Amino acid sequence: MSDSGSIAAVGGRGILPVNGNDASKTDPTRRGVRLTVCGLHKSYQGNEVLKGIDFEVNPGEIFVIMGPSGGGKSVLLKQLIGLEQPDHGKILIEGQPVAASGGSRYRVAMVFQSCALLNSMTVGENIGLYLSAHHLKTPCEIAAIVALALEQIGLRGAEDKMPDELSEGMRKRVAIARALAAEPQMILYDKPTSELDPVSSMNVAKAIVRYNHRIQLTTLIVSHERDLAFGIAHRIALLAEGRMIAIGTPDEIRNNPDPQVQKFLRARIGQTMDDGGQGSVQCAVSSRDAGWC
Ligand SMILES: Nc1ncnc2c1ncn2[C@@H]1O[C@H](COP(=O)(O)OP(=O)(O)OP(=O)(O)O)[C@@H](O)[C@H]1O
Ligand SMILES: [Mg+2]
Repeated sequence: MSDSGSIAAVGGRGILPVNGNDASKTDPTRRGVRLTVCGLHKSYQGNEVLKGIDFEVNPGEIFVIMGPSGGGKSVLLKQLIGLEQPDHGKILIEGQPVAASGGSRYRVAMVFQSCALLNSMTVGENIGLYLSAHHLKTPCEIAAIVALALEQIGLRGAEDKMPDELSEGMRKRVAIARALAAEPQMILYDKPTSELDPVSSMNVAKAIVRYNHRIQLTTLIVSHERDLAFGIAHRIALLAEGRMIAIGTPDEIRNNPDPQVQKFLRARIGQTMDDGGQGSVQCAVSSRDAGWC
């Protein structure tokens, strides 16, 4: 894709230009970029939702943010993709402020929980929408990109299907393919497996891991699904009441003695207490095992 295509394929709903040097120029097989968030605050009418968020996501890392409902996860995502402006704090990609103007650009994509597929368009048209709307590729090139994207998400040959003909899990995977067709350097997912059955969840998880491995895409996921988080994350963060109460590898989080962390983990483990917090088999997709069902 040309540089003029700097975008965020925001679940197909929007565009997010982000500034900085284009790391893919130097190594096209390793596209991931570093995200740094410092002292982020966000309030709405006096209600302080984000109370000073600090974290960093390494290039190529799968970083999962978990936490209680209402804790500020979606608000944080909205700041990260520029849908809203934080009151204070910095969001940097490769050290460059996201909101600053000028310079070359990074590509950031977001897959919204709702998928936001356009029902009047075929699956292929949805996936190729950004490329065709911005005249970034020829129709033949777009067809090839769409075919490859569908193959990579396990839906080969689904170009001509309409979104309503697909199951919820398939729609999620098409939404992921659409975001990825724009060749982002960082991708954000809001609850990518919510409301999916275990098999669909696993397929979506595998699609996420497969892309992360293939191009070292920086991947930030917000999810309530403990199995997903502990199954695929390199690191997990717990966001509660507007603060990151813990950040660490899955093992570090499991062994974190903080009562708030343990309370959250125990609450999640409620359905699967017997597995000792190791994650159930339902979605035990190792980040080292990105094969297909
Ligand atoms: N535009 C807004 N105006 C006012 N308050 C808002 C706005 N957006 C979010 N909030 C408030 O911010 C808080 C955090 O909301 P957020 O959607 O980030 O929660 P969440 O952690 O994503 O929860 P869930 O897991 O249920 O999706 C809530 O109290 C919510 O009401
Ligand atoms: Mg939310």
